[in-house]
Amino acid sequence: MIELLDIDFYFGKTPALKDINITIKEGEKIVLLGPNGSGKSTLLKIIAGLIFPKKGKYLYNGVHINARKLKDKEFEKTFRKSVQIMFQEPDIMLFNPSVYEEIAFGPLLFGMYNVEERVKRISDLLGITGLLKRPVYLLSGGEKAKVALASILVLEPALLLLDEPTAYLDIKSTKKLCGIIKEGSFTTLVAMHDIHIAKHFGRRFIVISKEHRVVFDGTYSELLKSNVVENYSFFEPEEIECNREKAYEKR
Ligand SMILES: Nc1ncnc2c1ncn2[C@@H]1O[C@H](COP(=O)(O)OP(=O)(O)O)[C@@H](O)[C@H]1O
Ligand SMILES: [Mg+2]
Repeated sequence: MIELLDIDFYFGKTPALKDINITIKEGEKIVLLGPNGSGKSTLLKIIAGLIFPKKGKYLYNGVHINARKLKDKEFEKTFRKSVQIMFQEPDIMLFNPSVYEEIAFGPLLFGMYNVEERVKRISDLLGITGLLKRPVYLLSGGEKAKVALASILVLEPALLLLDEPTAYLDIKSTKKLCGIIKEGSFTTLVAMHDIHIAKHFGRRFIVISKEHRVVFDGTYSELLKSNVVENYSFFEPEEIECNREKAYEKR
């Protein structure tokens, strides 16, 4: 389904991804792990066709995705419907006056039938039916995240890209989301940085280092046994302890 071949990405001179080679088969449930700034969001944006590699190639179902290909309106429409991304900040995805209109926007745009029924079904699933008439901008962070999720799930995408989707969710909603991902027939790629939550979100784990390279690709048990856990301090196997900040120490 997805082939990332020798991909490099830079923002100006700032490197964000280096030598990325990843192949993803249909139906795989993948977690993308890495510290802040490692390049997770950049990778998801490349796969969503929002930015394009500076070096290397991205193939989606065998088609080379680049700016020129996406100028083909017919192809762009199919691609944009089947690949859905939830951004790290749900706010930037939401622009409709009410929750109902927000969730119905995509299905109407893509000419799907039974829009009302689809919106109802997905709202029930995410437990946001009570919010449908509310203005989006007044919702809490967690409620916005659920609306953002509903607005992409309702499109029945083939590939779901979620960028730290649990950041605003409480534990009950987090459990619900990992259930939806496990049971859904779509392929998922979920970017996260908390290993304890991440283990419930996929069967294949890809780790990007702070040097923007893939340093691990395997199962959760392989990950725990690998040197990645030791070498990268972003994995705390036990409960975390807060650092004692020198700045606050009494002189
Ligand atoms: N729009 C941008 N302009 C300049 N630098 C960026 C931009 N977006 C991300 N970066 C930089 O690219 C690197 C990778 O960022 P990102 O993919 O957001 O990491 P992650 O999602 O893993 O935290 C970071 O060093 C980040 O500061
Ligand atoms: Mg990010």
